[in-house]
Amino acid sequence: MSSLTIPPPPCLQKRLLVPHRYMFGPGPSNVPTRILEAGAKPVIGHMHPEIFEIMNDIKSGIRYVFQTQNKVSLAVSGTGHTAMECAIFNTVEPGDSVLVAVNGIWGERAADMAERIGARVNTIVAPPGGYLTNADIEKALSKHSPVLFFLAHGESSTGVLHPLEGIGDLCHKYNCLFLVDSVASIGGAPVYMDQQGSHNNVFVCVYVFVCSQIIS
Ligand SMILES: Cc1ncc(COP(=O)(O)O)c(C=O)c1O
Repeated sequence: MSSLTIPPPPCLQKRLLVPHRYMFGPGPSNVPTRILEAGAKPVIGHMHPEIFEIMNDIKSGIRYVFQTQNKVSLAVSGTGHTAMECAIFNTVEPGDSVLVAVNGIWGERAADMAERIGARVNTIVAPPGGYLTNADIEKALSKHSPVLFFLAHGESSTGVLHPLEGIGDLCHKYNCLFLVDSVASIGGAPVYMDQQGSHNNVFVCVYVFVCSQIIS
């Protein structure tokens, strides 16, 4: 250790102290004790048999929270942005047409992501604090024939909960994937995934344990 010329900083020699704070915004949020305790469990390897059981339990929980029986319900450990990128980058090829509903900053963010991979991105923009009708959405789907339609369910920048009813069926009619960002809504507002058009493809991003889901 004599070759270390930079001494350990004093902060590393102290106990980490994190205060209790009440957080009532769209995020970050207070975490229930049961979840904090789960995070303090021992680390085990990704090939230990117990981990497969835990992963299966997580998948069952995801199916419950999304109200779906689809077995391809996956947890991606990362942030909401991770899930958005995971969903967009795995469904869109350069040159593909992508339609994004912009009802706040999360639509803008999704449009940026799709543009960065070279998609042809079109947007339908809701008035500030407003939402889009199914007629607006159908008109744009028919005009742009996208492979993917993105919509923020809980648009945390405006506080709007966008209705989802009937949009899955529209995406099915126009043969495109439906990507729903429910980062700020899941658990607070129901997402009835299996009612979004049973032959449709739906992805949903969720917060903390970022979830992507495909219904085929
Ligand atoms: C609707 C919505 N989508 C995506 C995100 C991004 O999530 P994260 O900050 O975990 O990357 C947020 C974060 O506030 C959000 O509110």
